[in-house]
Amino acid sequence: MAVTWYGMLVAPSRQMGGQQQANVGPGNERYPIPRLGPAHRGAEVYRSNGCAYCHTQQVRPQGYGSDFERGWGLRMSAAQDFLFEETVALGQVRMGPDLANVGFRLTDEAWHYAHLYNPKSKVTGSLMPQYPFLFKEQPIKGSPSGDALVLTGAFAPPTGVEIVPTKEARELVAYLMSLKSQVPLFETPLPAGPKQDAEATASSEGAGNAQTNLALNR
Ligand code: HEC
Repeated sequence: MAVTWYGMLVAPSRQMGGQQQANVGPGNERYPIPRLGPAHRGAEVYRSNGCAYCHTQQVRPQGYGSDFERGWGLRMSAAQDFLFEETVALGQVRMGPDLANVGFRLTDEAWHYAHLYNPKSKVTGSLMPQYPFLFKEQPIKGSPSGDALVLTGAFAPPTGVEIVPTKEARELVAYLMSLKSQVPLFETPLPAGPKQDAEATASSEGAGNAQTNLALNR
């Protein structure tokens, strides 16, 4: 009983309980930053739509699976990354890609809107469910709304009709954009992987250059 209590409560609490926001990386930036406004509310939209059933938000250490090779992160996830999360959406099934760094990988908001409305409109044969209820179909009055989805071919709405994101969709996309955890931390510095050999020199640009490696070849 005493050993369990120590091992499961006291030891983790001593190891991680005192973690705080810190100045990290070459730019000495504050990390992590609490989410505010729409991105903060978007975490709830993410949770209530069950995104975490198919997506993880945890990059495994190098050597454990192919997370690095897939471009899901530059370093493994650490407890510090989740300091300000109210509900940590770690997930445990990877039906879709890990989203811990999706805010770096896929930066085009319009892409996310179209993908959420109908994933097949962006990724041929996608198995991700559609989320059309996060959007509103409305007749075009005068000129089309600036935020109307750009859907082409078989996915285009009928003439005179446009599809616009609801508040929930906007919050969800703001949340996805905020998913970034690449700053080097004491416990997980940026490893010098095969892709980054050139950048991982003493150069202070290292982290910045390495970020570009996160871009997926879409
Ligand atoms: C039934 C499983 C499932 C659920 C639930 C699901 N997804 Fe996905 N998701 C996938 C699959 C499979 C892919 C890969 C194919 C694709 O890109 O469409 C994917 C891809 C993605 C991508 C692109 C990631 C990348 O790196 O290419 C994003 C962003 C995403 N999902 C967000 C979401 C959000 C937000 C939700 C909740 C509203 C969600 N997903 C719910 C299965 C799922």
